[in-house]
Amino acid sequence: MSNASPSTKAFEVDMEPVGRRVTISASQTLLDAAQAAGVELAAVCGGVGVCGKCRMRLMTGELSPSSALEQASLTEEQLAAGYRLACQCRPQSDVKVDVLPESLMSAQRLQVEGQEAGLALDPAVVPAHVAMDPPSLDDLRADSARLRAALTELGISRQVMDLSVLQGLSDRLRDQNWRAQVALYGNEIIGILPEDRALLGVAVDIGTTKLAAYLVDLQSGATVAKGGATNPQVAYGEDVLSRIAYANEHDDGRQVLQAALVDRLNALVVDLCKQATASREQIVEAVLVGNTAMHHLFAGLPVRQLGFVPYVPAVSEPMAFSARTVGLDLGPGSRLYLPPNIAGFVGADHVAMLLATKVLERGRRLIAVDIGTNTEVSLVADDRMLSCSCASGPAFEGAHIRDGMRAVPGAIEKVTIQDGHIYTQTVGDKAPVGICGSGILDAIAQMRKAGILDRNGRMGCAEPAGSEAARCTEFRLVSAGETGHGQEIAVTLDDVREIQLAKGAIRAGLEILLREANLTHTDIDEFIVAGAFGTYLDIESAIEIGMFPPIPVERFQQVGNAAGIGAKLMLTSKAKRAEAAQLVEHIRYVELTTHPAFTRTFAHVLRF
Ligand code: FES
Repeated sequence: MSNASPSTKAFEVDMEPVGRRVTISASQTLLDAAQAAGVELAAVCGGVGVCGKCRMRLMTGELSPSSALEQASLTEEQLAAGYRLACQCRPQSDVKVDVLPESLMSAQRLQVEGQEAGLALDPAVVPAHVAMDPPSLDDLRADSARLRAALTELGISRQVMDLSVLQGLSDRLRDQNWRAQVALYGNEIIGILPEDRALLGVAVDIGTTKLAAYLVDLQSGATVAKGGATNPQVAYGEDVLSRIAYANEHDDGRQVLQAALVDRLNALVVDLCKQATASREQIVEAVLVGNTAMHHLFAGLPVRQLGFVPYVPAVSEPMAFSARTVGLDLGPGSRLYLPPNIAGFVGADHVAMLLATKVLERGRRLIAVDIGTNTEVSLVADDRMLSCSCASGPAFEGAHIRDGMRAVPGAIEKVTIQDGHIYTQTVGDKAPVGICGSGILDAIAQMRKAGILDRNGRMGCAEPAGSEAARCTEFRLVSAGETGHGQEIAVTLDDVREIQLAKGAIRAGLEILLREANLTHTDIDEFIVAGAFGTYLDIESAIEIGMFPPIPVERFQQVGNAAGIGAKLMLTSKAKRAEAAQLVEHIRYVELTTHPAFTRTFAHVLRF
């Protein structure tokens, strides 16, 4: 037992799931602990206790009693569930706390995204290690026959050999002294590699705006490199419909869009290999997920029919073919797997997300949304699954927003208005140069709370106390003197309209699915939010502006790029591919654009 005074006592703070531990004194706060451990917590008000962004949840141990500021910022249910403001509480014992993804600054949230459910390893491409006698005057068998015989000895018969593998076979066997690692896809020989090289696969999430790719060791399931890039098709149209229009209106439209995407994917693969010090020939399979239009454009399938009622896909079943068919530059005989689509506007990316989040296994009534330029929504309840697609547009990517930008350093990502003061926090703590999706959402929610915006999205001219920021057509967040580019950053009325349309599209989809299932939002036990923007957004702000229904925040889970994780699962497990196909069979797709209640519902939910 220690006689130390409370201020000199030291306690260990264990921060999950970021996996950092640090010892602090009893007089220091959990925000101090996070800063000492290098965990970049959002602290928009600088630790004053008014922004409410630095939340953690106590898992074990004891903290100082909740302060008046915490009681003002958190609901009774949240306090009872252990939610605290890190800047306001101090440890009174060793504690373990849950660092909520929304409390982390963007760069670290990407690391949190890395947590995956244990991968069940059962890849479609497996290695076989063989040793052969070299040819001699007594043994004149061809190199391929020698390899086949060695494989037959291992019980692998009736092998088929890819031509590109045959083309490199003789040199490879001689270089490797007649020992080889054979990559087998069923009974097809798709690669010959040195024995000590890992067989790798690539999982890709082809977003309308962004590409995310993961290089995975197929034997261990480990992600050895990951990277992202802009989908170069953005240059031909920012959303799915404009890409379809481009493909239809130009003779070579489909080919141009496919080539742009494949070129960028090839460059991304080179980057991944560099990161992992691997070679392209080690990549034996790729699994690609995307919305139906991205899937079709990648595979060179027609998209014309996706642009007209009833918006049917050309292909919905899973597809497997050689990577070189579409010009993807991986290992010589490498394969591609494209999981099934659900409908014209709900694709394999949503299937991958549902797979990764195990929606059917949870046994709960839940909603799962994947927010992007196109937002897919699924409702799972009582063994039923309904899905729809909402045209949310690129506003959450910062597009169509006057001072909008992507979530890169200098982008305002969090906003708090408290007692007339505007607090902003930027990605990377850099001087502000624009506002990204989560920032504009926060700003509008805070403007609503402060009475600057009315329910219809009209901006009041009354100034918030102590501030000269409010005007009738725009609301200044940061004055020109405080920005990184010398121009003020504001939210305009047009920005408000853009966000109204985007959030209205999502909320209308949610409401129609609930109605189709004869449920209301109060019946929902869990609300899963996926996608990069979905990870960054502030749930309370999304509820405040009416994008999400008023479900207790504890029921929300922000899961990061679950589509990418689902793609990885299918890359490393044939069983998961079968599970994905079963999921698709289970889903009833609801077409919103022709739904009789859509127009009325959309008009209703446009209001804040
Ligand atoms: Fe804790 Fe703002 S930093 S409430």
